Amino acid sequence: MSENLWRNNVRKLDPYIPGQAAEEAKQQEKLTEVVRLATNENQLGPSPKAIEAMTKALQEVHFYPDLTSLELRTKLGELHGIDPENYVVANGADNIINLVIASYINPGDEVVYCTPTFSEYHKNTLLMGGVPVELPTTKDHKFDLEAILGAITEKTKIVIVCNPNNPTGTIVGEEELRAFFKRLPKHVVAVLDEAYGEFISVENYATGVEYIKEGLPVITIRTFSKLYGLAGMRVGYAMATEELIQPLQRVREPFACNRVAHAGALGALEDTEHKNKTLTENKREMKKLIKEFRALGYEVEESHTNFLFVDMKQDTSKIAGELAAKGLITRPCAAWGYPTYARISIGTAEQNDKLVKALQEISAKTPHHI
Ligand SMILES: Cc1ncc(COP(=O)(O)O)c(C=O)c1O
Repeated sequence: MSENLWRNNVRKLDPYIPGQAAEEAKQQEKLTEVVRLATNENQLGPSPKAIEAMTKALQEVHFYPDLTSLELRTKLGELHGIDPENYVVANGADNIINLVIASYINPGDEVVYCTPTFSEYHKNTLLMGGVPVELPTTKDHKFDLEAILGAITEKTKIVIVCNPNNPTGTIVGEEELRAFFKRLPKHVVAVLDEAYGEFISVENYATGVEYIKEGLPVITIRTFSKLYGLAGMRVGYAMATEELIQPLQRVREPFACNRVAHAGALGALEDTEHKNKTLTENKREMKKLIKEFRALGYEVEESHTNFLFVDMKQDTSKIAGELAAKGLITRPCAAWGYPTYARISIGTAEQNDKLVKALQEISAKTPHHI
């Protein structure tokens, strides 16, 4: 069918570039086992409690799911101390980003954020006929809040802060962020993407939950894909004041969170032990990887997520190819304009050891220091 029939805004969209799928890499490289460190998944897997709940839910899939995910919204309400009415649960945080932008953006409205960041802001803004206004991050790869404030015009409807940011793993200071929200003009809605928010280990660091309780105009986004290991199930949610969340509730498709995913999320929330184990191992392995990467001559800072943004000082697309041949998938950052950087998800101890060994072998073969 002719592309001319497509809606104009759809023609503006580039296809999403995902981390290479394990299945595809296996086929391409003729490998039996592939370690995927490209998509920031939880390599420990889901909680056994989530698996048990999902297995049980499978018996009931002839019934539609809970229309608005009330049970999960109630549980989240207990967890965060924000009422169940103030949430929207949907098919992953991707779906939530789509709902936020579809709820607020008229053609010509501006959406301001920094890059490099998560690509879905750009895509969904274009889809709605909005104008993405992309500003560089600071020298230390943080969202530049002053620059965002400076870029706001009468046409700006949404500002987005990805905190921690993907792919840089950085966060902005709490006081800076609070002051930023307070300085926003009344016609601007703030979106705080906290897909990795649970990995922040700075003591007493306020998250979107606190800002919402303070009545600030912030829609906070969270997901069960990262910390809770349910990326394949697709559960994400938004929380905000009633006034800000209402349009999302109207746009959301009914049953946007399927029955099995809903059960999995509820099960995951029950399992503090699995959550803590994930956080502890992630921290330990991150420290180890940073040490090994620095020994290889790479530049890398501690991240507030489950991945590292690594300057390998060489073409990372080439390195990613060599790693793939050894059964390790990583994410080169050329598409973000950072050709010497890679985004590497933190795996299990065994996976990380395999990665370091492979990088040492590649490095011994082709010394790269400049
Ligand atoms: C910053 C950020 N926001 C949102 C998402 C989407 O998460 P989900 O798997 O819930 O759709 C991701 C996924 O990688 C992400 O990195």
